[in-house]
Amino acid sequence: MATIENTEANYVVDKLIAEDIDSYLDQHEHKTMLRFITCGSVDDGKSTLIGRLLYDSKMIFEDQLDALANDSKKVGTQGQEIDFALLVDGLAAEREQGITIDVAYRFFNTEKRKFIVADCPGHEQYTRNMVTGASTSDLAVILIDARKGVLVQTRRHSYICKLLGVKNIVLAVNKMDLVDYSQEVFDKILADYTEFAGSIGIESFTAMPISGFKGDNITSLSPNMPWYTAPKYAGVPLIEHLETVEVMTSDDADKPFRMQVQWVNRPNLDFRGFSGQIATGVVKPGDKIRVLPSGKTSTVSKIVTFDGDLEEAVAGQSVTVCFADEIDCSRGSVISIADAPPQTADQFEATFVWMADEAMVPGRAYWMKIGTQMVSASVAEPKYEINVNTMDELAAKTLELNSIGVAELTTDKQIVFEPYAENRQLGGFILIDKMTNATVAAGMINFSLRRSQNVHWQAVDITRSQHAGLKNQKPAVLWFTGLSGSGKSTIANMVEKKLHRMNRHTFLLDGDNVRHGLNKDLGFTEADRIENIRRVGEVSKLMTDAGLIVITAFISPFQADRELVRSMLPEGEFLEVFIDTPLKVAEARDVKGLYKKARAGELKNFTGIDSPYEAPRSPEIRIDTTRLSPEEAADLIVDTLLGDV
Ligand code: ADX
Repeated sequence: MATIENTEANYVVDKLIAEDIDSYLDQHEHKTMLRFITCGSVDDGKSTLIGRLLYDSKMIFEDQLDALANDSKKVGTQGQEIDFALLVDGLAAEREQGITIDVAYRFFNTEKRKFIVADCPGHEQYTRNMVTGASTSDLAVILIDARKGVLVQTRRHSYICKLLGVKNIVLAVNKMDLVDYSQEVFDKILADYTEFAGSIGIESFTAMPISGFKGDNITSLSPNMPWYTAPKYAGVPLIEHLETVEVMTSDDADKPFRMQVQWVNRPNLDFRGFSGQIATGVVKPGDKIRVLPSGKTSTVSKIVTFDGDLEEAVAGQSVTVCFADEIDCSRGSVISIADAPPQTADQFEATFVWMADEAMVPGRAYWMKIGTQMVSASVAEPKYEINVNTMDELAAKTLELNSIGVAELTTDKQIVFEPYAENRQLGGFILIDKMTNATVAAGMINFSLRRSQNVHWQAVDITRSQHAGLKNQKPAVLWFTGLSGSGKSTIANMVEKKLHRMNRHTFLLDGDNVRHGLNKDLGFTEADRIENIRRVGEVSKLMTDAGLIVITAFISPFQADRELVRSMLPEGEFLEVFIDTPLKVAEARDVKGLYKKARAGELKNFTGIDSPYEAPRSPEIRIDTTRLSPEEAADLIVDTLLGDV
């Protein structure tokens, strides 16, 4: 490239690029984009339809064709049917290979619009893939085989699209060529679907009789179905509908202004702007805005884009907004119109789609990512699970892979949100496993719980440092963890005696004792153990607020729960003490005879036997009880604590 000489010929090419291609590219860049999902199984002719769209739009990128059909040269040079078949085979093969990975995205464009099609497998075991595809789609094409009509899977696909807030639904009644292009068949399916759609709250949809294989009603109206032009039908071919359907519905622009801050732009001291995509509403310089969660207000001074400053920006646009005042605003903050801000809350009802092989654990803390906000959150036992085939509400203790259910959700701090039905960006979230970092669920906030709106933090005058000051000590939690019979209680008891002798104000919370009172309603299932630790964590926190040094002796087998307690306390106040006794040693001691019972099958869910123990990864103190006596261990713990105090 660098060796090209500046000949006259090159000059002509440059000029062409400058004038024509630039303007062409410019026009191309300013085309709107429609993201849509196709729902249906292989038998419905989904690959054929997608192939038909790519093929008939005639603007497929060469390399894409290459990958799909394995032979791009044949396209356009040989008979259309052969090439089309090749394309479809390529699509089907590619998707089968990628089926377990995720969603295949196809790109194509026409003179009027650019398109991204999310091609997801349709079977129930791939619900999570469909959820991924639907969550970013503006439109869904729900395919029905004209010979089969509305099936259970049609209902499931429609329900998921509705749940994920896909605004436009196209009911594509496919394979019309195989039912002699019959108007009656189409009418019957239309009537069936209309009734079902109403029952799940889909208010409108566009039905089309098509044949992906023959190309009927795809790019142009089919001569085989003249009846489709009657006023009661949409009367447009599929591509034309996709090209003209409104992407940003006007109600998004009519809603109050909201934008979540993606990043803060501060190239120099004179410029400070907040970038993001406007979720809803309109913003203009001079508008009074409010930043949440801080609640601070200011006025919009400028709206900046690559193409210059704007007089007005609307939902869907990506912009940088500048304020007249230097107020607190950072990544994750939400900028809203001052007099109609979104809500903040920390307790919600939400609908979840479980996407991990491991079932949901009620009470466990997960990371919750809602737009650019990241908080810790836990989910209660589901209120019910939804049978997506029949829409029945079923009782459930947990949510398994691909199941959909409704449950309450609690976050560790207030978040800015809106119900998902009103705002996909501020109402949709994902849950992430804290240990593996895997996305385990997609969720949609239905509403906040009234109690979270009406219970406010009451400020008190005597602070935690005043409580501690009177006791002349720094509060702390010595959190013992280890197998049953590892020596936690023995060592914890010695530690407390030592500290007491040194005039420290302490309190020992011991598993067996707390389970006789505060936690006597809890057993040893995973959910009960999580709740056991959560409560003990809260009590420990209250006791440190009162200025005490708290010593806890619980198996606390799960790392995530111990981390939750750590996160509840100020930095440095939580010391994890791992009483490291190998299972065989604890079992050999068997002080309470429980291991024997567990081995005999008389005691279920026993830690180390048929219930897991997750050893701490980096405890503040590790006690190897095979090398230290309880006395030595207690000395080490006290020294570490006081060396720190
Ligand atoms: S934790 O797992 O929820 O932290 P916790 O420390 O409160 O457990 O209680 C453990 C004590 O309960 C054990 O020391 C033992 O005496 C008793 N226990 C009874 N059943 C079980 C069980 N299935 N697993 C573990 N401990 C049990």
